[in-house]
Amino acid sequence: MKLMEKDPMIIFSRNTPYMAVNIRKITKDGEGDIPLKEVASLCRCGKSNRKPFCDGSHNKEGLDEERSEDCPTSRIRRYQGDGITIIFNSVLCYHSGRCLKGLPEVFDRERRPWIKADAADWKRIAEVIETCPSGALDYELKDGNTFEVTREDGISYRKNGPFKVTGNIELRNEEGIEPFVKERYALCRCGKSRNKPFCDGTHMENPFED
Ligand code: SF4
Ligand code: FES
Repeated sequence: MKLMEKDPMIIFSRNTPYMAVNIRKITKDGEGDIPLKEVASLCRCGKSNRKPFCDGSHNKEGLDEERSEDCPTSRIRRYQGDGITIIFNSVLCYHSGRCLKGLPEVFDRERRPWIKADAADWKRIAEVIETCPSGALDYELKDGNTFEVTREDGISYRKNGPFKVTGNIELRNEEGIEPFVKERYALCRCGKSRNKPFCDGTHMENPFED
């Protein structure tokens, strides 16, 4: 498959694996980079014996990667702070815990409301939110405040976890599904998310064999 476009993208349809196009490498956290061909197919059913790559296992049992109809595409709450508004889309959170570790005074699961947007400096809050791999957390800044982030285009994953996509990688599909945050999103790799193609944390309760 030769593509004229050179922009990095991930292409999929309901019945195909993810096709990583023009993405040079995939990184396994703690183990290093695996080079990718110009077009590489990545497993999204959780059954391949060559993970992270597709080995055609889905052809035996069929692949139906449609999202569950009863799962909302978003469930958004906003938390107003001094200089920043934190936006939380709970259907995307897979409990990586980076927000809880990064700023426990702002993000605390034992408290109601669990987010206190005025409990830290807005820049520090933005910095921690930018580490949220799923894009469940996002923010808007008060007029005049700016926060710049540079990140490499890339896909990474860890054992039994989703593909974490960062940078400027388009998610292309015929249904027009778009990530909530285009620069940070997590794609289901276990085949069991109710919010496909995005990870919804189901792999935490039903671990798959990586
Ligand atoms: S996915 Fe984002 S919102 Fe959810 S726990 Fe991790 S950092 Fe927090
Ligand atoms: S990888 Fe499938 S729900 Fe997270």
